[in-house]
Amino acid sequence: MIGRLNHVAIAVPDLARAVATYRDALGARISAPQALPEHGVTVVFVELPNTKIEFLEPLGATSPIAKFLERNPEGGMHHLCYEVSDLRAARDRLVAAGARVLGDGEPRIGAHGRPVLFLHPKDFLGTLTELEEV
Ligand code: CO
Repeated sequence: MIGRLNHVAIAVPDLARAVATYRDALGARISAPQALPEHGVTVVFVELPNTKIEFLEPLGATSPIAKFLERNPEGGMHHLCYEVSDLRAARDRLVAAGARVLGDGEPRIGAHGRPVLFLHPKDFLGTLTELEEV
């Protein structure tokens, strides 16, 4: 069921500073910032040969990553995203196995314009896990 690692997401308090760090220190190629008000974040993607790194900066007063950044003021690894070919089939299989899907359990459109779901970190080794349909 599980496919490629689509991206690793890092929550950051200052997107411009994060971009400068990866661009100047690591020579990374980075996409333009994209505001996603419905997700409460602004994102950029660091393009690597085999995967992507997603930087998340809070957007708006009720950002879902605000609490994470309170606990991790310098930023930190926020989630992993794996690709699946059929998101609803993957969800049904996981729910049947006892895993918890966050929110109402229905896929939402993520930063790549594709359906995504998030799985409860307590069910996946303490790591927030995103599934994206590709
Ligand atoms: Co993500």
